[in-house]
Amino acid sequence: MQKNWVAILDFGSQYTHLIARRIRELGVYSEILPCNVKIDDLIKRSPRAIILSGGPDSVTKKGSPVCDKAIFDTGLPVFGVCYGAQLLAKIFKGEVKKSKKREYGKAFINIKVKDRLFAGLKKKELVWMSHGDKIIKLPKGFKTIAKTNNSPFAAIADTKRNIYGVQFHPEVVHTLKGKVILKNFVIDIARCRANWRMRSFIEDSIKELRKKIGREKVLCAISGGVDSSVMAVLLHKAIGNNLVCVFIDNGLLRKDEARLVKERFTKHYHINVNLINAQKLFLDGLKNIKDPEKKRKTIGALFIKVFEKEAKKLQGNVKFLAQGTLYPDVIESRSPVGGPSATIKTHHNVGGLPKDLKFKLIEPLKDLFKDEVRLLGKELRLSDELVYRQPFPGPGLAVRILGPVTKQALDVLKEADWVLIDEIKKAGLYRKLWQSFCVFLPVKTVGVMGDERTYDNVIAVRAVTSEDAMTANWAHLPYELLENISNRIINEVKGVNRVVYDISSKPPSTIEWE
Ligand code: XMP
Repeated sequence: MQKNWVAILDFGSQYTHLIARRIRELGVYSEILPCNVKIDDLIKRSPRAIILSGGPDSVTKKGSPVCDKAIFDTGLPVFGVCYGAQLLAKIFKGEVKKSKKREYGKAFINIKVKDRLFAGLKKKELVWMSHGDKIIKLPKGFKTIAKTNNSPFAAIADTKRNIYGVQFHPEVVHTLKGKVILKNFVIDIARCRANWRMRSFIEDSIKELRKKIGREKVLCAISGGVDSSVMAVLLHKAIGNNLVCVFIDNGLLRKDEARLVKERFTKHYHINVNLINAQKLFLDGLKNIKDPEKKRKTIGALFIKVFEKEAKKLQGNVKFLAQGTLYPDVIESRSPVGGPSATIKTHHNVGGLPKDLKFKLIEPLKDLFKDEVRLLGKELRLSDELVYRQPFPGPGLAVRILGPVTKQALDVLKEADWVLIDEIKKAGLYRKLWQSFCVFLPVKTVGVMGDERTYDNVIAVRAVTSEDAMTANWAHLPYELLENISNRIINEVKGVNRVVYDISSKPPSTIEWE
């Protein structure tokens, strides 16, 4: 019997996980599998529908990724997105060609046939395109159900066999009715029931963690942020006191952070935390290092070194190391199918781990996006103050001090950040912003204070809105607020005489400056 879930075959798109997440938002479990998954393995898992994701390749190229054609003999509904749609065209004897004009960004589809896939949509709808190739000949048994100016086969369907393909990306928010389209496919066409909840994720994870860990001990690195806290509470539920929490104060945390975190864990969650003061080790290790990637790798390596030392001290062997890696960290550090998408940044919790790592890694949140982790935190009854905390990168303030990290820069940055967050919270914007933070610039500028000339540091303020950190817009903070922030930082933080505001969005910039 078919089970109530959707299999997503991954052809390497940066958006593949968004498809999985959107379907889970609809209340249907979905999981990503490699595009070349064996048909027998797939059939054993009995999905109710299959989605073929987008991908960076061209189906016109020899050796480009394909799925097992036998999936079309299963009779399951199939939905191809972008590369997935082009692959359908190729398999069913249509034709795909490299387009002269790359279609990237917003486009309007004109719906030609009122198919079930488009129920609830108007004749013209805004969608998000990102493709070079396009279908130029309809595959056998298919009809065109929507066009754009540039794509004569923007959406195709074989309604007898419930096989659909769209050239655009319904999973990204810029496709305004994208979620309706996915719902139409998953609920109406594939007949999945919308009964999956975060509670099921907790139950499944606990089962899976117990099976994997057995009676072994797990060393869990907590950082005070929402990800590692949620992970620790989840692990504590699964394995109780076999969870050993270690909190390394690397000196790169925000002001007062270490004390507050320790207090929260012991008092509220009844989880014991070993607080380790490694400030000097990190500061010495980072001395004179300018390069952002080198900083991340150094921090990652030092983390592991300290962990190993701590683990050795513990009685019995600690076999596992748990990390609160989230999906965006994974995609930005490595391509999901080992394909050609470039490494954007090495997030220390993924890329910087030494090869001879003596622990087995456990990453219970690696399939989730930030807002899903927050939902999970709410479900695990963590406090709102913690659940709605803005993200803070693993390498901490080190990637917000451009150039070498020094004690002086850290002290200045901690104070400036404290002021900024205080102002943002007072303005009632803390939860509306994805992140707001200060960056210490390695330049000095001239200023005047009283009658004296000053030659001091510049602080950049960064505030962004975002859904999942994959894209972000600079926040249009009110001028009055910016004025207060600037006045207070310059007046209250010794060593700063200038504040600038970052007005760049992601892409092409990233959220952090390093
Ligand atoms: P970027 O700067 O790549 O950041 O746009 C996207 C999100 O990831 C956070 N970030 C990190 N998190 N280790 C982490 O755990 C890292 O090395 C790292 N670098 C960036 C960043 O704060 C933002 O939320």
